[in-house]
Amino acid sequence: MAISYRDLGLVNTREMFAKAMKGKYAVPAYNFNNMEQLQAIISACVETESPVILQISKGAREYANQTLLRYLAQGAVEYAREIGGGKLIPIAVHLDHGSDFDICKSCIEYGFSSVMIDGSHHSFEKNIEETRKVVEYAHKFDVSVEGELGVLAGKEDDVEAEKHIYTQPDEVEEFVSKTNVDSLAIAIGTSHGAFKFKPGTDPKIRLDILAEIEKRIPGFTIVLHGSSSVPAELVAMINQNGGQLKDAIGIGEDQLREAAKSAVCKINIDSDGRLAMTAAIRKAFVEKPSEFDPRKYLGPAREALKDLYKHKNINVLGSAGHAFD
Ligand code: G3H
Ligand code: 13P
Ligand code: ZN
Repeated sequence: MAISYRDLGLVNTREMFAKAMKGKYAVPAYNFNNMEQLQAIISACVETESPVILQISKGAREYANQTLLRYLAQGAVEYAREIGGGKLIPIAVHLDHGSDFDICKSCIEYGFSSVMIDGSHHSFEKNIEETRKVVEYAHKFDVSVEGELGVLAGKEDDVEAEKHIYTQPDEVEEFVSKTNVDSLAIAIGTSHGAFKFKPGTDPKIRLDILAEIEKRIPGFTIVLHGSSSVPAELVAMINQNGGQLKDAIGIGEDQLREAAKSAVCKINIDSDGRLAMTAAIRKAFVEKPSEFDPRKYLGPAREALKDLYKHKNINVLGSAGHAFD
């Protein structure tokens, strides 16, 4: 039987984004696949008093089981209330990179409060058609919808793109008005994963294209995917403890801070969390090779993850302190 996100204590992203636009910050969208990641996200956002978007990818849904995920999301609300002393930060559960109408519909039935329909690999016309279909369905349940224009380099939606196809400012107005989408993910040089720039190239995103897009759709919510910063200290910690990550480069925090002040109201981060967990687990394995209680390495990994997210909320996205605005 279908369940409404409201019954789970969740909210859609509409009000979150309106406040973020006014307050010149971005709401964090952190991916999770398991309990430790979810605990870290929730505790970091409660402690920094930040709204949060919990992102679930198709892969996460397959890994963790959709029924279990629904109860994890519901549990996350109760957990947030409990550790927040009875006060509840705004929490949305969002489908990351929904590939078609059916997965979006299924997620809405499982209690998601927001979905992304990623039609960026289709033609402009087909992208509009697919996105509009999802919007028409989702809005009946007051679920918010994110669309995407432009293609991020790297791996996206099981499609491997060699080069960025930057979002064309000329297309955004038509896309937004014809689809009635609530937010738009754009491609301005960010990319998924830990290898975003080739060594020796200029690791800059195209804030000029962002500014141009903002001019075409003033006040409309923009989303940035592929926004991990790939902290050098985490890469070093992984490599010092037996890992092999070469030439991992991310988006500078200063550029993200700049973007967060603009119409960018949602910033997606997954890879940095993966790096923080991996670094902590590798360190625990090297330092205590005789330990075999998962709590002894997942515990420190969860702590490292929480510290990372607190840092992002406070120093990069600027969402800290805005949960109860
Ligand atoms: O955009 C991709 C996210 O990092 C999710 O990755 O599909 O491996 O779960 P995933
Ligand atoms: P990163 O790989 O840069 O963390 O991006 C995550 C993302 O965009 C999820 O949709
Ligand atoms: Zn993404």
